[in-house]
Amino acid sequence: MAEANTVDLVLTDPPFAIDFEAQRSNYNRKGSRVLSGYAEIHREAYLEFSRSWIREAARLLKPSGSMFIFSGYNNLKDILIAIDEQGLETVNHIIWRYQFGVATRRKFVTSHYHVLYVCKDDKQRRFYRSARFDKNETKANGGSLRYEDMEDVWSIPREYWTGRIKTPTKLPGEIIRKILAYTTQPGDLVLDPFLGSGQTAVVSKLEGRRFAGFEVVEKYFNFAKQRLESGRYLIDAKVEVGSSRDSKEVRTIPGLELG
Ligand SMILES: C[S@@+](CC[C@H](N)C(=O)[O-])C[C@H]1O[C@@H](n2cnc3c(N)ncnc32)[C@H](O)[C@@H]1O
Repeated sequence: MAEANTVDLVLTDPPFAIDFEAQRSNYNRKGSRVLSGYAEIHREAYLEFSRSWIREAARLLKPSGSMFIFSGYNNLKDILIAIDEQGLETVNHIIWRYQFGVATRRKFVTSHYHVLYVCKDDKQRRFYRSARFDKNETKANGGSLRYEDMEDVWSIPREYWTGRIKTPTKLPGEIIRKILAYTTQPGDLVLDPFLGSGQTAVVSKLEGRRFAGFEVVEKYFNFAKQRLESGRYLIDAKVEVGSSRDSKEVRTIPGLELG
């Protein structure tokens, strides 16, 4: 069993319990490039599931550490109950606004996520206010960049990895970089119990933080591991192009550095 009070930051996007269809093809995304196997939780089991992982994450978190939990609105209440039961303190309830929610006819389009920023001890919690902008940095209209960056509504676009192999959901690298900058320093230990494509671990590594994490789907785990071992944000990808059997050729889409 891992030692208590050893993790500086827990940053995680747990399964949603909404019968998430892992290989759904939408917009210009081809289902065949999405790695299958997403491990979903039954709705009725979600409160108990949330209780058990949040209890363990809280045990591992240092009193000076921070925890960020991403959640859709559907099962948010279960996560809030589990946070409360663990005696965690709420620091912020952040809204992450993204582009292109799924279009709707009879209700508004969902284009946000909840990001619950909680901690064990608010007095000991570390926060690096000038990590990204100094207080004198201004926009063209004179507004403060630091103030804008510190507001609790974050507009950060999703990333489209067009043509590449991917897992069905992933956090944008930018949102992870932002959280790392404000709440950790190089060398700190970051934990993501639900790694998916490995975004938290990959960005932590690129930003000089140590990382640990879990993923139950072997294909996802191997994908994350491959990315981590490459030391790059995205590894080279080979894709078939052309529509008929004769005209098919394999092209390489080069990998990417972050930023
Ligand atoms: C919403 S995704 C995480 C996406 C990730 N943040 C990213 O950016 O790629 C949740 C992940 O948790 C995994 N998962 C489900 N149950 C799990 C469990 N008990 N332990 C570890 N991982 C689990 C799912 O397979 C899925 O990959």
